[in-house]
Amino acid sequence: MGFADRIDAAISSAIRQGQAAPSPGKLASALHYTVTPGGARIRPTILMSVATACGDDKPALTDAAATALELIHCASLVHDDLPCFDDADTRRGKPSVHRAFGEPIAVLTGDSLIIMAFDVLAQAAPSDPTRAVQLMSVLSKRTGMPNGICAGQGWESETNIDLSAYHRAKTGALFIAATQMGAIAAGQDAEQWEELGACIGEAFQVADDLRDALYDEDTLGKPVGQDDLHGRPNAVTELGIEGAIERMRDILSGAISSIPRCPGEAMLAKMVTAQAEALTPLKWRADQATASRE
Ligand code: IPE
Ligand code: IPE
Ligand code: MG
Ligand code: MG
Repeated sequence: MGFADRIDAAISSAIRQGQAAPSPGKLASALHYTVTPGGARIRPTILMSVATACGDDKPALTDAAATALELIHCASLVHDDLPCFDDADTRRGKPSVHRAFGEPIAVLTGDSLIIMAFDVLAQAAPSDPTRAVQLMSVLSKRTGMPNGICAGQGWESETNIDLSAYHRAKTGALFIAATQMGAIAAGQDAEQWEELGACIGEAFQVADDLRDALYDEDTLGKPVGQDDLHGRPNAVTELGIEGAIERMRDILSGAISSIPRCPGEAMLAKMVTAQAEALTPLKWRADQATASRE
């Protein structure tokens, strides 16, 4: 089974458990609505790539880690779209969860998915309790305070934003979780995998700023121009389109040099290069092609 199928199967199984009777119907539907169809699933894909590069000797634990991470990410998006945060009407090309089900259900959907993430890891624990505890610890650290996505969202309520701490927590945290959890699931030391996750996260943030500047809502499936609307600094206002693309590529070549020694080192370098291509907005590539023909 490829990564995408493994991720989808493991997520669907977790959601089905959460929907077991007797459960309130609207909340049960909202759980499924939130994770299906998924987005790019970039975090669990990176997690599985790292686990595979390190031998993936406990694939069920890797599946659990990937599911837990993606559930946290999906939960964060449901809460992020709420009126008290970004007040976004759309997500992944359809109405955001609070638009489809109402605010109370959206709050509970995010809460339920966060709890489900840790339950998935707890259920996988008997196969290797030591690794499972480490997975829970990394996931908690990168989700809560002071270094997780909660901290990232928290920065938006400050008058003076520490931009690098804000981006590291808001976006970088779950990419660091991705590389470290992949390594832990395969029995490797997490420490040396932090740098790779941090680099990919930083590049992803620049790519997200580029997409926000280059695309419209229909193409992205979520509101655009949010940074400007909320007065938040971003890579495109700071560096321009060309500068931001260059910055993203620089960060990703740093990512390749930071890959720790492991059996699948070359495969991981290819994965990062493929991500660099995937993150470079198609519209910019098309504009470049037109410009070079003229
Ligand atoms: C969006 O993440 C939120 C950010 C941290 C910028 P993704 O772009 O990975 O969202 P999906 O999961 O593919 O929809
Ligand atoms: C969402 O960030 C990040 C988290 C929920 C942690 P954004 O608000 O910048 O991302 P989008 O544009 O809604 O996907
Ligand atoms: Mg936001
Ligand atoms: Mg948002």
